[in-house]
Amino acid sequence: MAVATHQTYNFSAGPACMPRDVLERAKSELLDWNGTGMSVMEMSHRGKAFLQIAEQTESAVRKLMNVPDNYRVLFLQGGASLQFTMLAMNFIGSKVGGGDYLVTGTWGQKAVEAARIEGKANLVWDGKPDKYVSAPDIASVAVTDNAAFVHFTMNETIQGVDYLNDPSGNVDYICDMSSCIASRPFDVSRYAMVYAGAQKNLGPSGVCLVLLREDMLERVPSGLPPMLDYKVQADNDWMYNTPPCFGVYMLGLVCEHWIKFGGLDAVAKLNHEKAKAIYDAIDLSGGFFKPHAVSDNRSQMNIPFTLPTEELTEAFLSEAKALNMLELKGHRSVGGCRASIYNAFPLEGCYALASFMSDFKSRNG
Ligand SMILES: Cc1ncc(COP(=O)(O)O)c(C=O)c1O
Repeated sequence: MAVATHQTYNFSAGPACMPRDVLERAKSELLDWNGTGMSVMEMSHRGKAFLQIAEQTESAVRKLMNVPDNYRVLFLQGGASLQFTMLAMNFIGSKVGGGDYLVTGTWGQKAVEAARIEGKANLVWDGKPDKYVSAPDIASVAVTDNAAFVHFTMNETIQGVDYLNDPSGNVDYICDMSSCIASRPFDVSRYAMVYAGAQKNLGPSGVCLVLLREDMLERVPSGLPPMLDYKVQADNDWMYNTPPCFGVYMLGLVCEHWIKFGGLDAVAKLNHEKAKAIYDAIDLSGGFFKPHAVSDNRSQMNIPFTLPTEELTEAFLSEAKALNMLELKGHRSVGGCRASIYNAFPLEGCYALASFMSDFKSRNG
């Protein structure tokens, strides 16, 4: 078997790199979880062993994210994309105003499109005319009278636009935190619902974490397809059907890893240092590298940037690859490059990229 002789830096936007010691632990437990003689992949989801894993995972999520007792923690399937539909099906008709949407990038746009199929979805702020470079101060955006919720995407993964703060208004916020959850402390009690596909900061793909304030369950209309009904999912402790057992287990290990690391304050400090290294390389390049987002909304997780020409972009990507810096190509809708540096991405990788950027600029600028 070939042995990797170089450190590889994986800048993938998701699925993304995971903490090394979590992978090591999963490897050591792969064939025999806790003396059961079974792999987590082989266990009944109704058995004692998996129920213990489920409980440990939920309690790790609650501890890491400081989830209040009046919130349900659900592990659902269908990714964050199914939540676009599900949250609209469950809540959009609960008040005459429908659902308000702030759109700061591609994923928010997808969320509003999915919601329109289900009911009255109001676009109350749209960054599209400016090519999604910024996010508004949420409190200053006029919301619809009697709206059931205000939905926004905290961090737009493709455009690298992040609100960076919890909203302060007194409305039911629903937030897609797929690409920034647990990257910094956040106040769950500011939201009616938070959801996040796991495959960036929480674990492998296949699990979507949902934190739902309990009273929202009273708004769920009757007659929804059971799998798409939050009440059914909550009443059955997210095991109405067979859950994504292995993903849930991995998500628990990832949360336990960051708890041990020092919790979200420590994670945020590290993430700040990581992002700063790359933004500094951009800012010190005299315009050679151009960031996508405005300074006030710069994502700490996804950093899209462009170079002066297509040829230089190609050369940059190919030299980066030769240096084992992988997955730096930008999303086709924005072009250029994108460095995704989620929680598990190492600080040294950010320094390595920053140093390569300044070297590349000095040779080609
Ligand atoms: C912010 C955001 N929302 C939603 C999604 C869709 O997630 P999924 O693929 O889990 O449906 C993504 C995927 O990258 C994302 O980055």
